Amino acid sequence: MDIISIIEKKKNRLTLNESEIDFALNGYLEGSIPDYQMSALLMAIWFNGMNYQEINKLTMSMAKSGEIIDLSSIPGIKVDKHSTGGVGDKTTIALIPMVAAAGVPVPKISGRALGHTGGTVDKLESIANFKTDLTVENFISSVKKINASIIGSTINIAPADHKIYALRDVTGTINSIPLMASSIMSKKIAGGADALVLNVTVGEGAFLNNFEDAISLGEIMVNIGKSNHKKTYAVISSMEQPLGYAVGNSLEVQEALELLNNKGPSDLKEICLFLGSYMLMAAGIVNKQKDGIKLLKKIIANGSALTKFMEIVDNQKGNVNQIREPKLLPRAKYKKDINSPFRGFVKKVEARIIGQSTMLLGAGRMKKGDDIDLSVGIVLRKKIGDWVNEKEPLATVYYNDKKKYDLIKDSILKAFHTTDKRPEGKPLILKVIS
Ligand code: URA
Repeated sequence: MDIISIIEKKKNRLTLNESEIDFALNGYLEGSIPDYQMSALLMAIWFNGMNYQEINKLTMSMAKSGEIIDLSSIPGIKVDKHSTGGVGDKTTIALIPMVAAAGVPVPKISGRALGHTGGTVDKLESIANFKTDLTVENFISSVKKINASIIGSTINIAPADHKIYALRDVTGTINSIPLMASSIMSKKIAGGADALVLNVTVGEGAFLNNFEDAISLGEIMVNIGKSNHKKTYAVISSMEQPLGYAVGNSLEVQEALELLNNKGPSDLKEICLFLGSYMLMAAGIVNKQKDGIKLLKKIIANGSALTKFMEIVDNQKGNVNQIREPKLLPRAKYKKDINSPFRGFVKKVEARIIGQSTMLLGAGRMKKGDDIDLSVGIVLRKKIGDWVNEKEPLATVYYNDKKKYDLIKDSILKAFHTTDKRPEGKPLILKVIS
């Protein structure tokens, strides 16, 4: 067997078998297959897709490339959550403490920034000393002790995904249903949770732009989850504009903290309560979704979600003072408003432009292994449906490098579109697949 024939086979739209998939993954992981050959294979998959059996095999091979964590020593039904990503998606940071405070053990495995979207692990690293690379033993004992731990897949959890994820980020191969499904589900299977709640985002700011593709991704992941005996829900949600207002690592942590302080943007709150209520149902804490929402609202209002987040930060050696006083989180040196040249109702905010601009400010990676700037980003001042007057700010840019600001300032203006008539509100939650 050789990698060139495997690439050729996928290039010619043929089906890969289990040993070919294992050969490619193992070779890439141990270094005998270089980045450029794996990139060619990923691009062939991007163009020609995979059938369900191939996706399932790819998922299982990636999951088995490292350790499958045994969480059976933790009492209760362990529930993990994952989002396919989007601009301003800081859901995990607010949601995990809420759900853990409600009594659900949450072993959460997160990723880094991908393409135009941020990643939870990078965001959490804006908290000084926060460790996302716990050992498996430490991960398990943390969930036992405080009901939650959020780690990256740096330890031996689906290492094949870890390596391929970084390569996809810089080779234009992210938005592929087989690659997304196998990336997410391999981590979830290796992570060992009993139940999964998956947020599949669709729209401008997501990786998938079309509703049918989102459904297809959701269905594939739910089927893989079920065939691994995990109760799995996929919630399809709209990502037409950024979630919340803040985009950029430490700015997003600050916004998630606002929600934990019982404030924060309404769309962020809505998605957290919705996903959280499914996590509570999956864990058997409530039977009805509306009871889950009620319980989570109470947990936010009485401060126990915020307290739980402090426990998580403290347990992972992060600086809790920054949670008590978010102004101590990394701050950019400069900020500037982008003012509107027109008046009207905002009808569209092109989330992808906002995400890409944030990346160009330094918040994301252009090349594998690039350092990122945790303090920079963009805070929207207007969202769809808001009225804006001429010269009123549409967004505020936080930056450290004037050249980078100059590079993106015009594109931010282009991201906003207005109209004379108030646009109709669209739902955030589109469908649940179970
Ligand atoms: N999140 C992941 O973990 N993998 C993807 O491919 C996309 C989002």
